[in-house]
Amino acid sequence: MKKIIATGKGGVGKTTTLSALCLMMAREGKKVIVFDTDPSMNLAMTFGIPFDAVSTITEDKAAISEDIEEHGIEESAPEILEEHSVLTEDGIRIVIMGAIEHGGDGCLCSAISTIGMLLEYTEGLGEYDIALVDSQAGPEVLGRGLASEFDLNLILTEPTTKSSEVSRQVLKLGNDLGVKDSLMVVNMIDEPEDVARTADMVKISKDRAIGIRFDRCVVKADRAGELLPDVYPDSDAVADLRAVKAAVEKCIGRTDGIGSARADSTGHPAATPSRISNYRSPASAA
Ligand SMILES: Nc1ncnc2c1ncn2[C@@H]1O[C@H](COP(=O)(O)OP(=O)(O)OP(=O)(O)O)[C@@H](O)[C@H]1O
Ligand SMILES: [Mg+2]
Repeated sequence: MKKIIATGKGGVGKTTTLSALCLMMAREGKKVIVFDTDPSMNLAMTFGIPFDAVSTITEDKAAISEDIEEHGIEESAPEILEEHSVLTEDGIRIVIMGAIEHGGDGCLCSAISTIGMLLEYTEGLGEYDIALVDSQAGPEVLGRGLASEFDLNLILTEPTTKSSEVSRQVLKLGNDLGVKDSLMVVNMIDEPEDVARTADMVKISKDRAIGIRFDRCVVKADRAGELLPDVYPDSDAVADLRAVKAAVEKCIGRTDGIGSARADSTGHPAATPSRISNYRSPASAA
């Protein structure tokens, strides 16, 4: 199982990029699991999961910690995953960490450490080709060590000095953690030269940088609550996202042959627009 974490400053396109990658990979038959560790749960929402429709890990953190302590992660994980994740029609499993419940509740350390254990458990299962983590803005998630030994630090950035500064930090922290490779995606570019200019600011090799054009279609899809590759398949952004996917695959190497080999025999869902099959309805959540 290859592991990818999306990092970078706030609002630079981490969730947009990661959700498109998940979708494209799943529709090729790859088995994809994604961990939404951003407390604002934007990735889950991108796939049409209403904000309060899923029971999150933070909501149940005391019971989960107790369960893991008593029975160990191997025994507890199947139930945690069953209760705190959803499966889209494209077969993407989304695990939702959730937000801090109340003011003064403290940090997300225990929830992030649960995510770390679930990742390890998932890897041991050998069912998934790819695990992706959508993170909260800024370098903090790397400070918690979640991504140690990951295959790829997918650094999202805008072609600006401020965004590049955060990218420099997450590049360094990823390297410190032993993440095997880094790829920088310069999002919302005006001209191709933005990519090389930003690579210079971040001090990353230019062959590890790739651009996505600014495209109103992304904003329109976002506002409509639709998946970009479904509603604007011929847009500039989707063309660029396909190139990003190819670059990601070049970095991480072969991904087929683990989960996807198994996927055929278990009837992996066909390529249809995503709808969510198993989440708590807002009514029952109330
Ligand atoms: N290539 C693009 N062209 C135009 N708009 C874009 C592009 N990529 C992303 N956006 C828009 O930028 C905004 C932020 O994107 P997104 O939510 O993916 O960023 P993020 O890094 O995940 O943010 P956060 O740090 O808040 O989680 C969204 O409104 C999205 O529609
Ligand atoms: Mg996001």
